[in-house]
Amino acid sequence: MTQEFLGLSVAPADTAFGLMAEFEADTHANKVSLVAGAYRDENGHPWILPSVRKAKEHLRDTTHEYLGIAGSPAFLRLAKDLIFGPIAARLKNNAASIQTVSGTGANHLAASFLARHLRPKRVFIPSPTWINHHSIWAMAGVAVVEYPYYSPTTKSVDIVGMLNALDQAEPNDVVVLQACAHNPTGVDLSRPQWAQIAEVVWQKQLFAVFDSAYQGFATGHVDSDAWAVRHFTECVLAWENHPGLCVAQSFSKNFGLYGERVGALHLVIPQILSAQGARGSLMAIARAEYSNPPRFGASLVETVLADPGLRAQWEADLHTMSFRIRTMRRKLRQRLEAATQLDWAHVETQIGMFSYTGLTPEHVTRLRERYHIYLLPSGRISVCGLNEGNVEYVAHAMADVMKS
Ligand SMILES: Cc1ncc(COP(=O)(O)O)c(C=O)c1O
Repeated sequence: MTQEFLGLSVAPADTAFGLMAEFEADTHANKVSLVAGAYRDENGHPWILPSVRKAKEHLRDTTHEYLGIAGSPAFLRLAKDLIFGPIAARLKNNAASIQTVSGTGANHLAASFLARHLRPKRVFIPSPTWINHHSIWAMAGVAVVEYPYYSPTTKSVDIVGMLNALDQAEPNDVVVLQACAHNPTGVDLSRPQWAQIAEVVWQKQLFAVFDSAYQGFATGHVDSDAWAVRHFTECVLAWENHPGLCVAQSFSKNFGLYGERVGALHLVIPQILSAQGARGSLMAIARAEYSNPPRFGASLVETVLADPGLRAQWEADLHTMSFRIRTMRRKLRQRLEAATQLDWAHVETQIGMFSYTGLTPEHVTRLRERYHIYLLPSGRISVCGLNEGNVEYVAHAMADVMKS
């Protein structure tokens, strides 16, 4: 028997990407994929946003030169305006922004930077959360602690459990918060709950890392979806001794630029401090890891956000996507309630791309084996995979596997 190089064991395939490959290989006529966190149109096809399509025409003759290590300054200014809104004008020397390899790269850069310089004892991440939060922080060498986020009983945020867990944190510990449209549960904190968390984060001297991967997908409005980030940023600017925060910003979902890897990391600290040293350190990490961020996708985002006409088109595109998702939620709920005589209100009230259905791993296996419907073992579905042509089939299949 051959031995593994360096004794390395064979790691299991990433669950989501493994299921996507299985789905591609499945030849069944009625197969449905509810796995990928990527928007699909009413025919189940990937959608190039009309705003992005037009921006591409503007960029036909774009150059292929390197960007600077920190990325495009114009892109960073627009990205900052998008997430911080009117507060962006008040962020001066106390803020540092750097273009990243999408949201994953922004989370990773935040983790590498904070592990190196803040040296937290622990990072608190939601349970459940986007699976990569675990790997990113573990690879940065920071002990990962989960805080309760979701209550299966109430099908809403477990605010008491979350506050109790954060009460155990120590100064300089990091807390990861999803800004909106929480992956995988589809439930977000209310504004009063966010305000409570902001208070605890400050009292306990924790460093908040906001993961903003779905701005525009929760409500369809970019400003409403940035409310929590802006509230915390106001706290950093107003409250003495605030430890500061980072925002890992992704443009994969809200521009449909999944494969172009467009993102940014923003660091905000109190106004009496300068972020110039931190900016240099972020650039040093970027230089050693990938040197320069990708140019093309960032140029598309820059073109759309800088042009009032394209920006208006983009906001209409966001509305198209979030409206279709909400419609599919309603239809799935109606059909499930008709088929099971049970209450499926949560499918409609959850927000963003994902719904935490409450299906068990056994249900999920039966759905795949009997109906060729693919979803994560946690029972999370990507609502984007539903359309008029398959919602009835999916509801009927879900009802059937729950019976047996
Ligand atoms: C919560 C969350 N954060 C970050 C990401 C990163 O996405 P990307 O690297 O494509 O920007 C995702 C993608 O699914 C996500 O769900």
